[in-house]
Amino acid sequence: MTDWHEVMRSVPRRSFTPEVVWADLGPGPWARIDRGADPDEWERVVALDQPLVTQFEDGAAEGEGLATSSLSMPAMVVRFLEQLDPFDHHRVLEIGTGAGWTAGLLSERVGAGNVTTVEIDPGLSAQAGARLKAAGYEPEIVVGDGAEGRTDGAPFDRVHATCAVAEIPYAWVEQTRPGGVIVAPYSAGFGCGAILRLDVLGDGTAVGRFAGSADYMVLRSQRPARGPARAWPEAGDRDVRISRTRLDPRSLPLGPGVVDVAVAAQVPGVISRFYSEPDGATLWVLDRDDRRGSWASVDYEPGANDFEVQQAGDRDLWDEVEAAYLRWVRWGRPGMERFGITVTAAGDEVWFDGAVPAPVRRARARGRGTCR
Ligand SMILES: C[S@@+](CC[C@H](N)C(=O)[O-])C[C@H]1O[C@@H](n2cnc3c(N)ncnc32)[C@H](O)[C@@H]1O
Repeated sequence: MTDWHEVMRSVPRRSFTPEVVWADLGPGPWARIDRGADPDEWERVVALDQPLVTQFEDGAAEGEGLATSSLSMPAMVVRFLEQLDPFDHHRVLEIGTGAGWTAGLLSERVGAGNVTTVEIDPGLSAQAGARLKAAGYEPEIVVGDGAEGRTDGAPFDRVHATCAVAEIPYAWVEQTRPGGVIVAPYSAGFGCGAILRLDVLGDGTAVGRFAGSADYMVLRSQRPARGPARAWPEAGDRDVRISRTRLDPRSLPLGPGVVDVAVAAQVPGVISRFYSEPDGATLWVLDRDDRRGSWASVDYEPGANDFEVQQAGDRDLWDEVEAAYLRWVRWGRPGMERFGITVTAAGDEVWFDGAVPAPVRRARARGRGTCR
């Protein structure tokens, strides 16, 4: 297997890092690191095993809002590339060029002539192209919606998305040769996402398992609804149903990453937010696509026997999430590698030990190919 740490020594992250980046260096807002103003701090931060954000709000904001492009954490880059495991001469499609570092690593491994990288943001793509050229690599650089893959150059042996998906774009399956591999961060939106490795079969199907937690920025067209949790109750006048639960709601956000996969698999269309204070905490579960949709909140109070639940909308989202969590507990708290996905033209199906645990088939959404 390729020693990706060795490849990184030939293709260092610093060669692809912009002059200004933002990093999460502790409590408070993003730290802005400007190479011109503080070259030593820039070198120090670039060498950390931390993601470095390079863009917010698709370029419409600086240092605040939604992070929309980054150089990923090196340890995580290695974990994904190990799952991808390209061989000599393999043709590789990357979705999400970003700063160009992954494309550089892939070019070093299989040769730049075998690498195609797609980025939706023309400015980022141009800067990445310049950095790749300066580093001595000239892969095919495409500006476009990676959800459509790349028909030119297909079939690919490997497809690697470096932005997360809630639903695998079927074009990626169609454009990968039988026996080929798709590796992507998977993020249904509930808690943290996961590494997903899919093998492509020759019958229009791809199948594979999750391989650990990974939190990545989401493919533009698949981003969930935005806003703080309070935006859901504020979005419409709906009767709030009050009940109580004896399950400590922190069991979900503070549990192992597999909880997020297990709950998302059984309760489609739900995202979560967790706010923790020294004297309590609130877990919110929210309609993924629409702030006017269903929502629920559970308040944890230290020492209480049970906790207040508020629910509104068509679905009793907390009841669904609690039942899904306890079902996972009843299964014996299985690990993430026992969950997987089968992708067909009809949609994705999440499974547990090969069996579909609940109503989890997500029909392939129509007209979601274009990015917002
Ligand atoms: C985590 S960054 C990728 C990091 C990159 N691999 C690197 O080495 O710098 C994710 C990138 O995916 C891009 N992206 C988001 N949606 C996309 C889409 N639909 N098609 C192509 N790129 C997309 C973002 O603009 C962002 O640059």
